[in-house]
Parts: sequence; C-alpha cells; structure tokens
Amino acid sequence: MLSLTQIREDFPILSRTNKSGEKLVYLDNAATTQKPNQVIDTISNFYKNHNSNIHRGIHFLGVEATELYENTRKKVRDFIGANHTEEIIFVRGTTEGINLVASSFGSSSITVGDRILITGMEHHSNLIPWQQLARQKKAHLDIISVSSNGEINIEEVSSKITNDTKLVAISHISNSLGTINPVEEVIQIAHRRGIPVLVDGAQAVGHQPVNVNSLDCDFYAFSGHKMFGPTGIGVLYVKEEYLSQMSPYQFGGEMIRSVTYEDASFADLPHRFEAGTPDIAGVVGLGAAIDYLHSIGLDKIKAYTEDLSLYMAKKLSTIEDLQIIGKPQFRGSIVSFNFDQIHPHDVATILDEKGIAIRAGHHCTMPLMQSMNIPGTSRASVAFYNDKNEIDILYEALKAVKNIFN
Ligand code: ALA
Repeated sequence: MLSLTQIREDFPILSRTNKSGEKLVYLDNAATTQKPNQVIDTISNFYKNHNSNIHRGIHFLGVEATELYENTRKKVRDFIGANHTEEIIFVRGTTEGINLVASSFGSSSITVGDRILITGMEHHSNLIPWQQLARQKKAHLDIISVSSNGEINIEEVSSKITNDTKLVAISHISNSLGTINPVEEVIQIAHRRGIPVLVDGAQAVGHQPVNVNSLDCDFYAFSGHKMFGPTGIGVLYVKEEYLSQMSPYQFGGEMIRSVTYEDASFADLPHRFEAGTPDIAGVVGLGAAIDYLHSIGLDKIKAYTEDLSLYMAKKLSTIEDLQIIGKPQFRGSIVSFNFDQIHPHDVATILDEKGIAIRAGHHCTMPLMQSMNIPGTSRASVAFYNDKNEIDILYEALKAVKNIFN
C-alpha cells in the first residue's frame, strides 16, 4: 500500500479549490500529471544555484550544470534499462521523439513501395509522422484494426507484416481507451522478420516499470510531464544498432564537431541529435521525477493505479445509460466513457463546476473515434495520488449529470 496522505502532501496543487470553493479532484493525468515539491524545488534550485549553459563553459557553473545534465542521462538509462548512455536522447516530448525517428530513420530506411505498420488506436503523434513520411516516400501506411473492446488482434499483426514492412509503431498504452497493448509479442513477431519496432510510451512510463532491454524495442519515446516531471522535456531511446545509422535531425549549435563554410562534421552520439541549447532545467527536473518515482516504487505504483482504474471502470459501468468505451483485458490508468444522449464536452463542463478535472474530446485519436462512430469520449485518468474516495465523488457527480439531462 502507498502512504497516500504523505504522497498527497508532496503535490501542493492537489489542495487547490475551484472558483466555487470545490476541492480539486484531478483525474486528467493522461493529459499531464501533477508535479511533486521534489521536482518543483529541484528546478528552482537549479535556477537559483547552478544555472549555466552546458558542454562549453570553462567556469564552475558550466561544469556543474553539465554534470547535472549528463548525470540525468545516466539516471534515465538506468530507469528504462537501456544498455548505453548514448542511446538516451533528450527531446521536447514523445511527439518530437517520434518525429525524430520519422525524419532521421525514415529518410534513410523507408523508400518507394515500403510499408509502415501502426495500430488504429495511435495518438496523432504516432500516426501523422508516418502518414507524412509515407506520402513523401511513396510508401504505404498499414493499420491494425481495433476491436470494439479496444484491443488489437495479435494474428492480424502477423498477417499485416509483409516483406515490404520496414517499421512497426505502436503505443504501449492507448491514451484514449486505456488498453495495455501486447507490445512484447508485437516486437517478437516483427523481429522474427527483422523489422524494428517503435513504442510510444507516453502513457506507460511513470505508471509502471518499463525496461527497453527486456522489451527489446528499437525505439521508445516518452514525455517528462506525463511522469510527474516538467513539461518541455522528453526522452527518445534508440537501440545502438539503429542509432549509429541515423543522421542528425536538426542542425546548429551543440551538435557539431567542426565547421567550415562548406561542410560540418557532427558531435559524438547522442549529442548530434540535440541541436541548440537544450531544456537543461527540464532535464534536471526529470531526474528529480525519476528519484521520486523510485522512492515510491514502480511496482507499487503499477499495482495501485491499475487497481484504482479497474475500480473506476467497474463503478462507472453501473451508471444507467453510461457506456465504457473500450473494455480491454489489460487496462492502464485510463477509462473513457460516454452517456447515450449527452455530449462529452457537456459532461466535462458540469464536472468542472464540481472541481472534477477530466478530459473530453477525441484525445488526438480522431480516426479511432470515427471508426467507433462516436464524436469523442469523456476520459478520466488516475495517478498514484488519487484514491477510491475521489472515484466515488466522480461517480456521484456523473449520476447528477445524468439527472440534469433526464
Ligand atoms: N496526449 C495527451 C492526452 O492524451 C495530451 O491527453
């Protein structure tokens, strides 16, 4: 069990009230998680005591800031079980990480007639980069279908892989349905055919242990702000075998070795993928988030949040006229739902008046919503600082929403 009282004290925002004085019930963790004092104070301390640019200052502040930045890279390596520090590239977030792979790996490895395989439940971030790449290269985008339960069928993965498939891209956990995808199996199937796999880990990291080495994925992208760290920082893991073949994605300062007017040679890995001054404070804050997660324990976090989200799915499903959208066998911390006759935005607006924060809309998965014939969903998503009492508050509020529209 987690010591919830103590944990909640670490998150000052959780004691906020809305303008009517209603206590905040924050259930929009899939959009972004809240930050503990340990992360907020680390960022503040960085700016107060260590702020400097990195990799260039001869002065002591430059040395300290560089050490903090590079030590976090090692911390991230260990956190996700990567083999090499060079495999950790700091990016702005999951979206930028996937775009980096699409631009860099995509430009060298995808050509006319090739095929890229994704699932029908991908966030736009793991769809549009591949759609645009396929268009540029005259390649094809294949889609694994999603069942009404919100799951993919592993046989369909095998059957949709062809001799022309050059990449498989899949979310670890669906941001709109909460499905935990069988990524290990997908990776094994793809690897038997020598095809690399990219995993969008935005909804997984911070909520469960993730080990890229045991997953054996080739690319893994995630965001700091969805794992209790700051916004504007994320991580792209690239397996060494692919990293060495990839050319830089952006050009400029920080990523070069030497430059003439005619040519340039590039810095060692991974710095050649980090053009420009990075979000140094963000990286340091991300390190604090990792320390914080370790202090609680990722196994405990996973058990607690999955239990809470199952409780939520079960409880909400007892409300008359409310449909849970997606009933996967394995669910992460997300539950989507709809009332028969009430628009998701109306639901979210009424809940907001009661201090309950959820998200409503298409959740950046418009094609999935179209395939399910719905305009969008209301989505509640938990973290380890939520509890069953908050789910009960949501439940009562949803029953009240239904009565308003009756
Ligand atoms: N991708 C984030 C979400 O699902 C913003 O809400």
